[in-house]
Amino acid sequence: MSTKAEILSEIIKNRRSVFPESYTQEEIPTNIVEQILESANYAPTHKLTQPWRFTVIRKNAKAKLAAEMGRIYKEQTPAEKFLQKKHDSFAQKTAQADTVIAINIQFHEDKVPNWEEIAAVACAVQNMALTAESLNVGAYWSSPPLIAHLDSFLGLAENEKCYGLFYMGKHSEEPRLANRTPMADKVKWMGE
Ligand SMILES: Cc1cc2nc3c(=O)[nH]c(=O)nc-3n(C[C@H](O)[C@H](O)[C@H](O)COP(=O)(O)O)c2cc1C
Repeated sequence: MSTKAEILSEIIKNRRSVFPESYTQEEIPTNIVEQILESANYAPTHKLTQPWRFTVIRKNAKAKLAAEMGRIYKEQTPAEKFLQKKHDSFAQKTAQADTVIAINIQFHEDKVPNWEEIAAVACAVQNMALTAESLNVGAYWSSPPLIAHLDSFLGLAENEKCYGLFYMGKHSEEPRLANRTPMADKVKWMGE
């Protein structure tokens, strides 16, 4: 029997970013999406601000998101840099995904600095990624620059901002090893 630490370590190490081109079209049941979201709520949060806000985009809303992304991309890209392929990739990716979750942050500048809210939301997203891994759901955090312009599409309030799109889909990818340099290169120990 595996210990809790062994199970946790396996989930942490096996979690990979899984991209829409690897997703099958198998539907993710709503209760599984809810389970993944619920795990976000257990992230640590300074002064209990719980700044994570999510917009779950599924079914016909995915095409609406893709159309909005295409519109923003066209609007923000100088004509000589515009790539039709890039423009069309938004529709492709959202169609391949079962669910896209907009990762939004509600800031509370009177309580904690913004970086603490961003850190708390990153913890929340990691909880979702680990829960997704444990449920055989592929996922990845996408952060194209155009997310800075999604506020009105997502109906965000003044103190809210979108920081990414969490694509999710069932997949049949073989486990991939993490591409990392040794931890020892990144740690300095102090003390006897
Ligand atoms: C905040 C954040 C933003 C990211 N944005 C993108 C992105 O825009 N496009 C992308 O392909 N991957 C993105 N990723 C995923 C990374 O590419 C991925 O985590 C990295 O390659 C390591 O692979 P792994 O997640 O499988 O360990 C993002 C990850 C994080 C944490």
